[in-house]
Amino acid sequence: MRIGEINFNEYPVFLAPMEDVTDMSFRLLCKEFGADMVYTEFISSDALIRRVSKTKSKLEVSDDERPVAMQIYGRETAPMVEAARICEEAEPDILDLNFGCPVKKVAGKGAGSGMLRTPEKMLEIVKRVVEAVNIPVTVKTRLGWDDNSKIVVDLAEKLQDCGIAALTIHGRTRAQMYSGEADWTLIGEVKNNPRMYIPIIGNGDITTPERCKKAFDTCGVDAVMIGRACIGAPWIFGEIKHFLKHGEPAPKEPFDYYLNVLKKQILLSVARWDERRGILHSRRHIAASPLFKGIPDFKPTRIAMLKADTMDELFGIMNEIKPGKTFVDNF
Ligand SMILES: Cc1cc2nc3c(=O)[nH]c(=O)nc-3n(C[C@H](O)[C@H](O)[C@H](O)COP(=O)(O)O)c2cc1C
Repeated sequence: MRIGEINFNEYPVFLAPMEDVTDMSFRLLCKEFGADMVYTEFISSDALIRRVSKTKSKLEVSDDERPVAMQIYGRETAPMVEAARICEEAEPDILDLNFGCPVKKVAGKGAGSGMLRTPEKMLEIVKRVVEAVNIPVTVKTRLGWDDNSKIVVDLAEKLQDCGIAALTIHGRTRAQMYSGEADWTLIGEVKNNPRMYIPIIGNGDITTPERCKKAFDTCGVDAVMIGRACIGAPWIFGEIKHFLKHGEPAPKEPFDYYLNVLKKQILLSVARWDERRGILHSRRHIAASPLFKGIPDFKPTRIAMLKADTMDELFGIMNEIKPGKTFVDNF
């Protein structure tokens, strides 16, 4: 499978773009565990052209994380084109356009998945952005706005005609937000449409290596994108890659191995920002990590970890955690 000039091995698995999650330190960690491509958090085109400093820091990419896709969102053509050019200067491998974000402050204004209600506008933006930059442009979207407007099969053809290099589909409508189960049927329909020739990346609810393999086998997608399941568990990429290669689960490591991965994430984050911001950023990963599930009476420890504001304090608490004998069963 290839996107533009980038060649991927069989069964590529990508790290999904996630706001406040996929900063460079987390992307590098996921890459280490085998993610075949990583995505930046989405970047507001409006903020980018105003050169807001927090937004500008999202433009940083490292050679060690390549291939890396940079994602922007917006609702007007001119700012999206200008933002695309700014992104191109930052030299990502791919520019991804977000037409999937369901949150009110984005979709309510017609950007992100809001664009599913104005597909002609979406196509105009895509066409103009593709013309404006020399790197491959890809799109990430959902099935449609709601149950009565699942337009993705038709939309995919039109997006392809605009010159995009790949399409990611999250198997939910905007109305679903993140509820219910992702429906992969239409993703498969897009992939199996004989008129489609660009790579199709499937996304939604891939939480285990088995599910990932099933997505490849039953829908025939060219790549699978993993979101929430890797928050606090970047090792899932290694587990998935092992399963796809060998057809059996990767051997489990001892508890401390995973704990050290979480510590590394915190260290990378602190090195990238500073102690306070690095710890703040890591809290979401600690809170979401499956590593601590099933540890008896864990709540006070969890709260203490999420309140700690120095590395000494946080690592001190982490060092005291004992997995107990439930670890193997629960994790
Ligand atoms: C915290 C969070 C932030 C997200 N931010 C973005 C984003 O910036 N851009 C985007 O295209 N999708 C974003 N998403 C959606 C994910 O990329 C993905 O499509 C969604 O979580 C479904 O995949 P999953 O079931 O594997 O989590 C975000 C999701 C979460 C949970």
